[in-house]
Amino acid sequence: MNLRALAAKVVFQVLEKGISLSVALPEQQKNLDNGKDKALLAELCYGVMRYLPQLDKQVSDCMSKQMKGKQRIVHQLLLVGCYQLYFTRIPSHAAISETAEACRQLKFEGLVKVVNGVLRNIQRQEKPLSTDNDTLAYNTPAWIIKRLKEAYPDNWQNVIEQSHERPPMWLRNNQQSQTRETYLQALAGLDIEAEAGNSPDSILLSSPRDVMQLPGFETGAASVQDGAAQWAATLLAPQGSELVLDACAAPGGKSCHLLELAPEIKLVAVDFDAKRLERVQQNLDRLSLNAELVHGDAADIDSWWQGDKFDRILLDAPCSATGVIRRHPDIKWLRKNNDIEELAQLQSKIFDHCWKWLKPGGTLLYATCSILPQENKDQVSAFLARTPDATLVPIEEQANPSDIGWQIVPGQNSMDGFYYARLVKD
Ligand SMILES: C[S@@+](CC[C@H](N)C(=O)[O-])C[C@H]1O[C@@H](n2cnc3c(N)ncnc32)[C@H](O)[C@@H]1O
Repeated sequence: MNLRALAAKVVFQVLEKGISLSVALPEQQKNLDNGKDKALLAELCYGVMRYLPQLDKQVSDCMSKQMKGKQRIVHQLLLVGCYQLYFTRIPSHAAISETAEACRQLKFEGLVKVVNGVLRNIQRQEKPLSTDNDTLAYNTPAWIIKRLKEAYPDNWQNVIEQSHERPPMWLRNNQQSQTRETYLQALAGLDIEAEAGNSPDSILLSSPRDVMQLPGFETGAASVQDGAAQWAATLLAPQGSELVLDACAAPGGKSCHLLELAPEIKLVAVDFDAKRLERVQQNLDRLSLNAELVHGDAADIDSWWQGDKFDRILLDAPCSATGVIRRHPDIKWLRKNNDIEELAQLQSKIFDHCWKWLKPGGTLLYATCSILPQENKDQVSAFLARTPDATLVPIEEQANPSDIGWQIVPGQNSMDGFYYARLVKD
């Protein structure tokens, strides 16, 4: 099947079925043999997710009757066509004819002329994409814009703009294999331009690479992980043979980092999602690390753990993921406004329960990849107000030591948006 038809299928799965891009895209990439085609398929699907409102308006404005029901996939195909015309260097005639051919392959023979006509019309008009309202101007749903305006009155535009940038590729040096300096030299030896990031093991590549080109990747010399996410293990700072809980562990990037920093700890890594837990095991295997994996609920530790209380707990809570929209632009369309309050309730339930399982003198690191205060500083403030034996320990990197936790915004030092709060139990 042609690549535009596969792209339409992916966009349909995300927008009509609510399946995430990171699940829907690899499923269709399997149908392509060559790396270049896989990359173009990803580019088209990510592009449509990034610019959805503007593309949707342009396409809808050129149609007298909107596609409904099963025909929606043809509408999604038109978004893919429109994206090519505005945002790629693919010659217009090729973009249009390939997209029309995709319509035929999707078995909508009767709509091939419509697809051709709409795309030719768009191409002929050369109309700039609409910026008539905030949703169009920022390609972001109104409820996210409203929440960001409230949370970041002085820089909300910048937060949104950064969320549309293409994210850089970060590596985590495995300090059990070599020093970061040595790994940087190995990269330089292969003409891979890179620099040290601000967290101790992080390396920022100047352009993304296939991991198989990275020295020692298969044997665990380095892993792919954003610079912001790498602060988790560093801030939790596991020591010696401590008992450590990673309460929401999958796919396991932070579990692996904890073990690289302190190989003697006993790590219990739990996740609610059995399928995602398999990925934790794969990551541990690649790095030759060991942890006790539990398929369980972090809000009900009593039901699956009969051991001691934990010296340290990482609570990387389920969240809106609004800090990582630049990596997962489908989040803008999959998340709904009501989710935020529901997530905040789930977070506080897990937070309280994990706290019960922390030893006196122990440390809990609360983390999210959200940039919304309801899931971050408001969450931690409320926790502190109802938990007399909890003390917030400021993080050195915070701009202001009196802030409740450290909010990283997307693009700050090239990192994803993230939040950390470190708490110690009396
Ligand atoms: C932000 S992700 C964790 C990312 C992970 N720490 C890493 O670095 O790879 C949140 C995880 O929480 C899990 N989760 C959600 N609710 C949970 C619960 N009640 N108990 C345990 N895990 C849960 C989800 O399945 C998801 O894998």
